[in-house]
Amino acid sequence: MDFCGIRVDSPFFLAPMAAITSLPFRLMCRNQGAGLVITEQINATQIARNPDPFTNNEFFTVKTAPEERPVGVQLFGAVEKDFIAAVDAVERNFELVNINCGCPSHKEVSIGAGAALLKEPSKIAGIVRTIKGVSSRPVTAKIRLGWEENRSVAIAREIERAGADAIMVHGRTATQGYSGIADWDAIRKVREAVSVPVVANGDANSGAKALQMLEATMCDFGMIGRAAMTNPYIFREARELLENCAEWKASPSDKISGFFDYLGACERHDMVKLSDLKLKAVQFTKGIDFTKQVRVQLQAAGDVATVKRILAGFLQETLPRAQSHPTRSIHNMPRAAKSV
Ligand SMILES: Cc1cc2nc3c(=O)[nH]c(=O)nc-3n(C[C@H](O)[C@H](O)[C@H](O)COP(=O)(O)O)c2cc1C
Repeated sequence: MDFCGIRVDSPFFLAPMAAITSLPFRLMCRNQGAGLVITEQINATQIARNPDPFTNNEFFTVKTAPEERPVGVQLFGAVEKDFIAAVDAVERNFELVNINCGCPSHKEVSIGAGAALLKEPSKIAGIVRTIKGVSSRPVTAKIRLGWEENRSVAIAREIERAGADAIMVHGRTATQGYSGIADWDAIRKVREAVSVPVVANGDANSGAKALQMLEATMCDFGMIGRAAMTNPYIFREARELLENCAEWKASPSDKISGFFDYLGACERHDMVKLSDLKLKAVQFTKGIDFTKQVRVQLQAAGDVATVKRILAGFLQETLPRAQSHPTRSIHNMPRAAKSV
């Protein structure tokens, strides 16, 4: 399947999320079937001031790896010349450039970036035009429906006229934050108004919901954010439904293996952080009928080796025993089986 000239193997993409969509997390989501992944938002002005962000540890957010491709970089800012320098510095490692025009947080809005750009779509158009003038990569913009009111059709048309290759639309206004429900009907209207691909986004919190989002918006592509944080397996769920009409859910061993994949990526890319690993161990294994003891042990773990030992023990010892006694809850297993 083609998206802006990029070969993608699924229409379901990982949405950019600050402090979440790190390189190991993106690799995890690609392994679970996401068709395209995008970095978290990165400050274009800060990159513009740095001659080589890839060798500067401060810019770990631009770190990428060949095995996660296709991967996009998301930039935020308000100054056109900074986007030129930033794109020049980073585009060689990415397949796509994305401009953040939807983040409502103070850090972005106070400098006229993120969702503030929705108040002046001509500024978004200017940034798109400027980047198109210097970049060989597809240039895309991620918007919300508007600042306070839904002006998405007019905004998207202006972005398209400026030469954008695709538009991602989160179906809420900036002032809505995350309240209410994403307006898929509004996204469909954008889809009908422009001829570039529109990527639908907002509230796809299960594989089935992701398919419903494509159907309701008539978009060929969809983006998943929050649900992937605790369920990165959602990409496979959605693909199985789409490609094979099959309901697939990650089993306890899939989830624990998924955690070890994530840990492996952290180790390979020198991005191991105990607090993050403990959080991911809990998030990626959500829904597993753990013994209370396992959760307590995970929370108390003082090093990475202990986190590994707890989950490996559960996977190799407790889980097979529980599965060989399917009528017996893990909570009722004999004490020896509970300990990991
Ligand atoms: C923790 C968090 C961080 C986010 N950071 C970004 C970001 O860096 N850039 C961006 O365009 N959107 C960001 N978003 C918005 C998401 O990309 C997405 O548009 C939004 O969560 C709606 O999709 P969902 O309902 O699938 O979560 C963030 C959302 C969350 C929850």
